[in-house]
Amino acid sequence: MPPGIPLFPDGASTMAPRVDALYLFLVALSAFFSIIIFTAVIVFAVRFRRRSEGERPPAILGSLALELVWTLVPLGIVAVIFVWSTELFFSMHRVPPEAMEVYVVGKRWMWKAQHLTGQREINELHVPVGVPVRLLLTSEDVIHSFFVPAFRVKKDALPGRYSILWFEATRPGKYHLFCAEYCGTKHSAMIGTVTVMEPAAFQAWLSGGAAGQSLASAGEKLFQDLGCATCHRPDTLARGPNLEGLFGNPVRLADGGAITADESYIRESIVTPSAKVVAGFQPIMPTYQGLVAEEGLMQLVAYVRSLQRPAVAGGPPTGTSVQGAPAGPGASPGPAPPGQERP
Ligand code: CUA
Repeated sequence: MPPGIPLFPDGASTMAPRVDALYLFLVALSAFFSIIIFTAVIVFAVRFRRRSEGERPPAILGSLALELVWTLVPLGIVAVIFVWSTELFFSMHRVPPEAMEVYVVGKRWMWKAQHLTGQREINELHVPVGVPVRLLLTSEDVIHSFFVPAFRVKKDALPGRYSILWFEATRPGKYHLFCAEYCGTKHSAMIGTVTVMEPAAFQAWLSGGAAGQSLASAGEKLFQDLGCATCHRPDTLARGPNLEGLFGNPVRLADGGAITADESYIRESIVTPSAKVVAGFQPIMPTYQGLVAEEGLMQLVAYVRSLQRPAVAGGPPTGTSVQGAPAGPGASPGPAPPGQERP
């Protein structure tokens, strides 16, 4: 980057050249028509100015050809913009299935990231180059916005909700991370660094330092500590739905509807259990709103996600896919249901 004020931010993701191309097209289009319009204004003002007192211009009674031109040409241009930007919009929202997961919580005034393997970072995010990364974003307090200009991605982090952002970095380096939603006194200090590393260096980074336990096993511990296992169990004493093999699958609800169990559904079921009661169960679960911080909720989500249905002898080998974790050390805490009971 040259010194001084850069005209254009660094581009370091697969999305960057595509966003820039659309942006430059729109700028060029606007410039082209601005030049035509302003030139016409000046030329016509001079050429068709009134030359004598009492001069009356001839009346214009319309022109079909002219009207067709100024209707069809803009229609064509707008159609091009629509198709182009919609295509870009969809690829920004369609996360590649092999994407690596990172859970991110915004909080006045910092970004807290948790990797599935258990690494936690504040105002830093380490990712490998050439690998799609899916961020599950939420906020602990007010609305923040996760913005990495070099990747051309920005997504609001909303309290009480999960939003998803993905990117694939194309160049190792350090890139700015901003909060792009005014969130109070130190909004301008809510900044950080995204460090893009070569895959080997990233693996070394993952295995070094204080990794601690994986996100799923941290979630399992919370699950036991909160007593969730007393009701959510695979045997006949269960008073709540069995959570094994739940994630990613459809759930039938008591009100007759159905929903696919994703992260947002699991989070909602912990903080507002009565919102979507599973068919065949009573709404007896107490709310855990305020009892578990957002990071803890994400650990619980990671744990529920990791619970696969135990393999049945002779059955099809389902549920062996490691969801979203290429390295996968956090995704295999074993299919064994929480066995011990708390009195
Ligand atoms: Cu967080 Cu602005």
